[in-house]
Amino acid sequence: MAHIIDGKAFAGGLRERIGAKVADLTARHGLKPGLAVVLVGEDPASQVYVRNKGEQTHAAGMHSVTHRLEASTTQADLLALVHSLNADPQIHGILVQLPLPAHIDSNAVLAAIDPNKDVDGFHVVNAGRLAVGLPGMVPCTPLGCLMLLKDHLGSLKGRHAVVVGRSNIVGKPMAQLLLQADCTVTIAHSRTADLPALCRTADILVAAVGRPEMVKGDWVKPGAVVIDVGINRVPARDPEAAAAGKTRLVGDVAYEEAAAVAGAITPVPGGVGPMTIAVLLLNTLTAACRSHG
Ligand code: GUN
Repeated sequence: MAHIIDGKAFAGGLRERIGAKVADLTARHGLKPGLAVVLVGEDPASQVYVRNKGEQTHAAGMHSVTHRLEASTTQADLLALVHSLNADPQIHGILVQLPLPAHIDSNAVLAAIDPNKDVDGFHVVNAGRLAVGLPGMVPCTPLGCLMLLKDHLGSLKGRHAVVVGRSNIVGKPMAQLLLQADCTVTIAHSRTADLPALCRTADILVAAVGRPEMVKGDWVKPGAVVIDVGINRVPARDPEAAAAGKTRLVGDVAYEEAAAVAGAITPVPGGVGPMTIAVLLLNTLTAACRSHG
């Protein structure tokens, strides 16, 4: 059976180290890193994420502000808030929770965030910095995956990494990070020919497609490291519980099958998920330190 990569424990340790650094910065330099999270509307999953982000920011000793705006908020009002946060010296990181309501152009909002405060790493300037190897803000989830991989494997040099998924939030930045770590990288997606055969060539297999349990056990090369980025809610296993509306979380990987073949694997929940907010705190700390010179 595969080694289980404990992202929850790793993220807990990372948050502790961040908390210690924040306490030191505050005591010695009077610098308290500040994160502003903006939520527009009442999407239930987003509400949970935003609450968790606020709580964990606060727990790390940072300045935490959450702006909750009505679903009917205009793009102009949202842009005005982003501009005021850009200008606020107490705020080092700005995160606008996605998805935004349909009447708002997400790209226009992301483009309005000061790239140096863009702790999500979604601004085109940060995507460009990552692509050319300049320091910038790196998207939280892929950076969290890279940390777990390096912690488990040490050097990633020369390994064949297959990233399934080509989103701007995970797939593309993940591929850039793996390339920087000297992997040979293949980006696969829904139109890739013979995806199972390609995945079987991977030493490192990252699944970020948003489809429950799509990656099967026989897609995994024996001994490969499998990173499952998916968080999908599906009906509970027990038919009675499912009929009552009960759900469970699964990843993009068929866990039991894959764990029987892989050398190591991240579980869902408790794998990649907890890393995202921990890295968000790390990015906020980094942004605060850079702003201080
Ligand atoms: N919605 C789901 N995940 C994320 C994320 O990492 N950042 C933002 N801004 N919105 C999200």
